[in-house]
Amino acid sequence: MSSQLIYNIGMLVTPEGNEARRGADQGRLKVLENAWIYLENGSIVACGDRNQPMTFGEKYDAGGRLVTPGLVDAHTHLIFGGWRQNELAMKIRNVPYLDILAAGGGILSTVKATHAATEEELANKAGRALDEMLSFGTTTCEAKSGYGLNKKEELKQLKVIKALNKNHPMDVVPTFMGAHALPPEFKENREGYLKLLCEEMIPAVAKQKLAKFCDVFCETGVFTAEESRRILQAGLDNGLIPKIHADEIDPIGGSQLAGEIGAISAEHLIVCPDAGIESMAQGGTIACLLPATSFYLNSTYAPARKMIEAGVPVAMASDFNPGSCPCLNLQLVMNLGCLKYRLTPEEVLTAVTLNGAAAIGMADRVGSIEAGKQGDLVIWDAPDLNYLCYRLGSNLVHAVVKKGNFYRGN
Ligand code: NIG
Ligand code: FE
Repeated sequence: MSSQLIYNIGMLVTPEGNEARRGADQGRLKVLENAWIYLENGSIVACGDRNQPMTFGEKYDAGGRLVTPGLVDAHTHLIFGGWRQNELAMKIRNVPYLDILAAGGGILSTVKATHAATEEELANKAGRALDEMLSFGTTTCEAKSGYGLNKKEELKQLKVIKALNKNHPMDVVPTFMGAHALPPEFKENREGYLKLLCEEMIPAVAKQKLAKFCDVFCETGVFTAEESRRILQAGLDNGLIPKIHADEIDPIGGSQLAGEIGAISAEHLIVCPDAGIESMAQGGTIACLLPATSFYLNSTYAPARKMIEAGVPVAMASDFNPGSCPCLNLQLVMNLGCLKYRLTPEEVLTAVTLNGAAAIGMADRVGSIEAGKQGDLVIWDAPDLNYLCYRLGSNLVHAVVKKGNFYRGN
């Protein structure tokens, strides 16, 4: 048995519990000063402060630094071939995201590059992205398929995710997103692709246990709310939990559908109407907000405060992908949560830890520093949480601890 004691923690800050925190609870954290954490076999056994001294284990001096739970990135499009730097000039000229997609660029150009890559190439590239995420403090992430858009290629992406989850220290949670765009060969035959998704791809993914969630891009020119309902229902019928990209550009009913169908999370929600917030509150759906995408698309920001006031738990994630957000740094996401959503550092920390974990069904294992959870922690070059949210553009990681193993930051 291995036992470790991380001591001389200047400040330990964590949300508590095994489920998403909503309303005023989103901003309530446990704070311990002069604290320690005791781990056995990579799991947290106890934590305390100077009033409850602990002396066992191999000792690690945190040097008076801030310690939080490892960050959880609940929304990434991790597996893709190529990049899309050629779109930058179009973005600068204000060519809309959906116009680039409609012209066969955007997601569809990444589909071509992903088809052209082997499983090994995709795994090597995504593995490097996971290394970078870990160096920025992320210890668990979700990863979507969605650059395959046919059965063979979607399964290829999901197999890469499975291999990464096994071989990389990061926990990587898989989502099937064959409904990311309409493939060009089905341009005149939407019904054909819907049938392929619902009757062949989803059952195959479920049978091979390659995904936990099913996600849909519910957007003008992509999938309507009714089509999204059908796809998510097929997922549910096959044991896949629904997620939905909703209200990113146009509010066409995605957030209302999320609550109605009991989606675990709805993503983006940049232009979420009040009816959508109401529906998510009713349905127990977590709002998974992606402020770095708003920044990158030069769009507006999701009504995060309204969501918290309505009792919708707010998570925040990177949306790492080659188009709308080529950024995997959750520290930047935290800055934007404060500066653009006007959330407090406490609400922001919950959003990128426990609520992110709940959005991917992992809140019983990660997302807080409590006995029984995995030993996933970040030791920050910061004295307190305010400092972490206030500094901009630096990597403040001192060390990352994943299941009790130490990884150095910058
Ligand atoms: O969440 N909106 C749809 N999917 C991604 C973008 C994917 C891409 O542009 O390649 C998103 O922003
Ligand atoms: Fe996305």
